[in-house]
Order: sequence, then structure tokens, then C-alpha cells
Amino acid sequence: MTKFSMKSVFVGAALVIGSLGVAQVSMASNAGGEHKMEHRNWSFNGMFGTYDVEAMQRGYQIYREVCSSCHALDHMSFRHLGDKGAPFYSSEYPNPNDNPVVKAFAKDWMVPDIDQDSGDVIERPGIPADKFPQIYPNSIAAAASNGGAVPPDLSVITKARTGGADYVYAILTGYHEAPHDFHLSEGMNYNVAFAGNQIAMAAPLSDGLVEYATRTVPGEHGGEPHVITPPEATVDQMASDIVQFLTWAGDPKMQARKNLGFATFLFLFIFSLLLFLTYKQVWKDVEH
Ligand code: HEC
Repeated sequence: MTKFSMKSVFVGAALVIGSLGVAQVSMASNAGGEHKMEHRNWSFNGMFGTYDVEAMQRGYQIYREVCSSCHALDHMSFRHLGDKGAPFYSSEYPNPNDNPVVKAFAKDWMVPDIDQDSGDVIERPGIPADKFPQIYPNSIAAAASNGGAVPPDLSVITKARTGGADYVYAILTGYHEAPHDFHLSEGMNYNVAFAGNQIAMAAPLSDGLVEYATRTVPGEHGGEPHVITPPEATVDQMASDIVQFLTWAGDPKMQARKNLGFATFLFLFIFSLLLFLTYKQVWKDVEH
């Protein structure tokens, strides 16, 4: 092989590896028309981005107290809340079925079951292995309760919509008074981020809607416990917190994937370097 072609192999390899690094370019785009959506600087963006655990935990509170009266989480079980990388993971309880926080959350929901003696359909408090329950028995009932529109499943909403996290945030913060010349249909709400600018969901968030609790966490290695003061529950803050939670719900393996991606990148880099040095060594006494 000539020197030139060997060089081009290395240049090619470097280009491939380099492009891995920039493959994280965001897919968010504006679909045109009147939709308004800003590109936000999320903690989970980029190659090294991570979810914000505190924000995800507050996000779960928002889901439970606000969104869950209409929206289901079709693809989630309670135990997922305690998986590695999940909002309520604890290294003390690697099996989320044993995690007391997860157990308490599950118990706080009523889930459908069959009575083992009579065969009747009953409801009982949840356990970690249960799925999050459906909110409505079927989509006709869901539409009937919501002015004809069915509230979509939220467990993969950030995957299901162009713009993902930015879009969901934009919807939640996009409610405004309709302009004078805008014809708003009966029962609809003006929203700058929604296609056509009218949405059946009334603004679900308002300042101070939930009360974020102050928490005391034990100090590490037996140190002083410290108090975590929560942020103020403004619409922006709550929208941002629920988006952290929903983005995790839709992509719970993101962290593991990024870690593996980086390890692979490092491996390829070192491997190419070794290969190059080997090539130099092998050919050093040969005229070529
Ligand atoms: C009172 C019921 C209700 C509550 C509470 C509610 N929603 Fe909705 N939501 C709806 C309905 C109905 C739709 C469908 C709207 C439409 O298609 O016009 C919807 C649609 C959505 C959409 C999808 C927009 C799209 O592109 O299709 C998102 C995202 C959303 N809701 C998020 C939330 C979040 C997050 C919360 C909690 C903070 C929440 N909703 C609370 C009823 C509700």
C-alpha cells in the first residue's frame, strides 16, 4: 500500500470518529406556520448532558398532582421510578421493588385487579410491579370528558413530537390571550406553540399551583444533614421540571447510552493511534 493511500485511510478514520462527536446535533425544528418554540438549554442536551434528578423528582410531583387527572403513562410501571438513572433510584435498593419511596408512590394510586375469590373487577392500592393505571376506560370516554380531544399518553410524548422537550415546554408555557382577529372555537384555548393555535387542553399550570416541599437529606458519610430548598413553583419552573421527568420517561437509558458512546469513542481513538504507530514501526526500514 502506498504512503498516500495509508494516509487517506487514517484521515477517513479520523473523520468518522470526529463525526461521532457532532452526531448529537439537535433535531428540534419549527414546523412553520405560527408555532412558536424556543430552543432551550436543557441539562440533558449534548454528548455529556445528564438529567437533573431534583428536577425530575419535582416533575413526578407535577405529573401526579396535575397531569395525571387526564394523561396516562402507558409505557411505565411504578418500579421504573426506582431503576438506575431514574428519579427515585437509591443505591441502597438496587431492586426498585424494595425501594420504600417507590412503594409509597405505588400505594398512592388505585389500580384495577380481579378479586381472586369472586372474580369481580376491583381496585386496590398499587405495588411497584404494577403499570401506571389508565385514566379513562377508553378513548371515547377520554374524548367525552375533554371537549372531544383525547389527552395523549405522556410516557413517550417527548419522542412523539417534533421538538421533543422544547415542544412540550413551549405548549405548557404557550397560553396567551387570543389576538382580536383570531377566531377561537368554543371550548378551545389559544396557544402559540400548538398547531393551528387552538388546543382543547386548558392551561394546566398556573403560578404556585403545587407546593414544592423542602427536603432534608442525610449528610454523606455520616456528615451533617442538609436542607434542600426548592425553587419557587412558577409556571416556567413547573414546565421545566415536568419536561425533565417526561424526557427521562421517554428515554430512560439515555445516560447509559451516552456513557457507552463515549467509551466507544475513546476506544476507537486509542485503537487508531496504536494502529498508526504499528504501521510506522512495521514499515520503518522499508523504502515505500
Ligand atoms: C383537564 C385535562 C388535562 C390536564 C390536567 C392536562 N392535560 Fe394535557 N391535554 C389534554 C387534552 C384534552 C389534550 C389534547 C389537546 C388537543 O388535541 O387539542 C392534551 C394535550 C397535551 C399535549 C400534547 C399536545 C400535542 O402536540 O398533541 C401535551 C404535551 C400535554 N397535554 C401535556 C400536559 C402536561 C405536561 C400536563 C400536566 C402539567 C397536562 N397536559 C395536563 C388534557 C389535559
